[in-house]
Amino acid sequence: MWNATVLTLFPAMFPGPLGTSLAGRALAAARWSLETVDIRQFATGKHRVVDDTPAGGGPGMVMRADVLARALDSCVADDRPRLVMSPRGVPLKQARVVDLATGPGVVILCGRYEGIDQRVIEARRLEEVSIGDYVLSGGEIAAWALIDACVRLLPGVMGQPQSGVEESFAAGLLEYPQYTRPQLWEGRAIPDVLLSGDHGRIAAWRRAEAERLTRERRPDLPGVGTDRSPEPVGRKAPEDEAGA
Ligand code: 6GU
Repeated sequence: MWNATVLTLFPAMFPGPLGTSLAGRALAAARWSLETVDIRQFATGKHRVVDDTPAGGGPGMVMRADVLARALDSCVADDRPRLVMSPRGVPLKQARVVDLATGPGVVILCGRYEGIDQRVIEARRLEEVSIGDYVLSGGEIAAWALIDACVRLLPGVMGQPQSGVEESFAAGLLEYPQYTRPQLWEGRAIPDVLLSGDHGRIAAWRRAEAERLTRERRPDLPGVGTDRSPEPVGRKAPEDEAGA
């Protein structure tokens, strides 16, 4: 079963939102599993201190390599990737999410304070991952995001495997606009083409809208001006549910 192990100073933050909605139902149905490791349990001394002042001076505190290494080494050694959530990490993309979701799971170290001792990143070969160009107060919320993105791709988790957004992302385009009833709302009508029943015209309209939005908002994405169709990528049919 796909397993996430989260090392954190705040184990009470888990499962958090991952215990609700789609991820929570899949967790209850044992389509994936989650365990937390309380980093503080691996600190020593009366006060179980996990951090100290940065070498060379400067503001904030740094999480100690020895404490983190003991916490990491307490996890069963398996072939899951070991990630550390950090704003200076490699930006997380859907392709990496697909990769992680098709593997055995993840071990995620959540940093706090100003950072963690560089030596433990190197010695335990941790992969630093960021979820965007802004700073969170700790890695836990980033871990929620990463795990949610993976879990929804697991076999049998998502109700409608073709549900569009990440397929369109995988094709390098943003998703086209969606509409539903009522047909007229506050004087705004659903675009006629979507009610035409002409599937060819509908597909062409959606493609044009996806390209327009991508050009306007995310010209850095590779989909603009390509002729790739937004086909599902990186997700198998929701088979083998019993075998999870
Ligand atoms: Cl992964 N961690 C933290 N603390 N801040 C972030 C982040 C991660 N990604 C963006 N900002």
